[in-house]
Amino acid sequence: MALTIIQHPLGIHVLTHLRDKTTKPALFRTLSHQLTLLLALEATRDLATEEKAVDTPLESTTGRVLAKPLAVVPILRAGLGMVEPFLELFPDICVGYIGLERDHVTAIAHSYYCKLPPLEGRRVLVVDPMLATGGSAVQALEVVKAAGARDLALVCIVAAPEGVALVAQRHPAVPIFTAALDRELNGKKYILPGLGDFGDRLYGT
Ligand code: PRP
Ligand code: URA
Repeated sequence: MALTIIQHPLGIHVLTHLRDKTTKPALFRTLSHQLTLLLALEATRDLATEEKAVDTPLESTTGRVLAKPLAVVPILRAGLGMVEPFLELFPDICVGYIGLERDHVTAIAHSYYCKLPPLEGRRVLVVDPMLATGGSAVQALEVVKAAGARDLALVCIVAAPEGVALVAQRHPAVPIFTAALDRELNGKKYILPGLGDFGDRLYGT
């Protein structure tokens, strides 16, 4: 299993402000957007390109364009905060949605929504800012695989070792991209040091 922790100084700077408990939702959304742009670039660094003829104002030449369509699949609700940067970078990307919510006591995620476009032949980027126990990510990856996805990546903002290990065990071929690999989970399955409840901080709930 491949784990990539982005190292860009801007990413490190932004993540520190995301962790800060005094950061309010409006700034939190902006910072999430910025960090996801960096993650999206990293998670698509290996995309294949193909030759394309192009006429400049002066002559004909050959360039290269992306060879494969993409899909981004946020895990609701916190994953929604990572969709816009993908749309900004890849205007033709299609978007699917998987609704999963962790039970407050057991931390086991249950599914409440799923709407996916056709995924065969696409690079599918499953996005969820927090990879904690890994239960949500593992379920989501199962769902997109069942819908035909074969070329997959998981993009998150903060990962816990427990979540990385579970994804590696259940979906060993899926690379993970994150801005941080944190220390551990606490008794309530929150990431330490983490940044708290991402969805609550994103939406002010
Ligand atoms: C959070 C987070 C992930 C999940 C991670 O969502 O956004 O989806 O927990 O935890 P796991 O790795 O242990 O499954 P939550 O269930 O709180 O729902 P929300 O996004 O609607 O707030
Ligand atoms: N979900 C969050 O939003 N934060 C955590 O630390 C763990 C799961």
